[in-house]
Amino acid sequence: MTSPRKTYIIANWKMNFTPGQASLYLQRLSNRVQTSRDLQVILAPSTISLQPLSLQINRRQFKLAAQNFYWRDFGPYTGETAISQIRSFVDYAIVGHSERRYLFHESEQDIAAKVAAAIRNGVTPILCIGETSFERKNGETKSAISAQLHEGLHDISAEDVDKVIIAYEPVWAISSTKNARPAKPADIADAQDLIRKQIARLYGKATAEKISVLYGGSVNADTAAGYLAIPGIDGLLVGDASLVGDSFCSIIEAAKRYQE
Ligand code: PGA
Repeated sequence: MTSPRKTYIIANWKMNFTPGQASLYLQRLSNRVQTSRDLQVILAPSTISLQPLSLQINRRQFKLAAQNFYWRDFGPYTGETAISQIRSFVDYAIVGHSERRYLFHESEQDIAAKVAAAIRNGVTPILCIGETSFERKNGETKSAISAQLHEGLHDISAEDVDKVIIAYEPVWAISSTKNARPAKPADIADAQDLIRKQIARLYGKATAEKISVLYGGSVNADTAAGYLAIPGIDGLLVGDASLVGDSFCSIIEAAKRYQE
């Protein structure tokens, strides 16, 4: 069954590719991929590549996302980049990725401030949430997901919440995590159900049905179709497998087939 919501396929390149390599990748991808109104392909390069790629990209074909930014709009914050400085280059911004939470110690308050800053600047935040393997082992999966969702949306009004995309990314399934293992469709289905129920409690049922919920964690060309078939999952956030053009193209193809 096809969802009434759009499908999103997002490449999170993390700290890979120089601007030149990113540009070459985009050029090759543009020649190979045809998107449609219902399939949004988004590339999230390093901050340094956003400006050159924004000049090169055909925004009807692909969109750009920031991987990170600081939540204040300007000021004495050495080394930081504000979303207000890059908002003309991007349509989306990843917020709360587990690598930011655990390697760079971003707090729930930081994440909530970033979600609000993105909305304030007309950029769609992609809020990543997901339990660690420790939390899962201790039976705290639901409480971890609920707390992150609640905190992340803390400053977002009912009017704005459907501008947020939620990505469920269990930390233990992300390829950069030690001993990462792919999530089972049943676990992802439970998590998306929980996410929509909590959105319904916070903002009402109609909003819960409108909001997009994606999955991310060790998605590759072989597993993409299976994950896209999970009811309520509206797309994929892809790390490692997005670094290789062939495998990312296959994931996009899987999304197109799924929509037909
Ligand atoms: P992965 O990364 O596909 O390499 O597991 C996903 C992510 O970190 O968003």
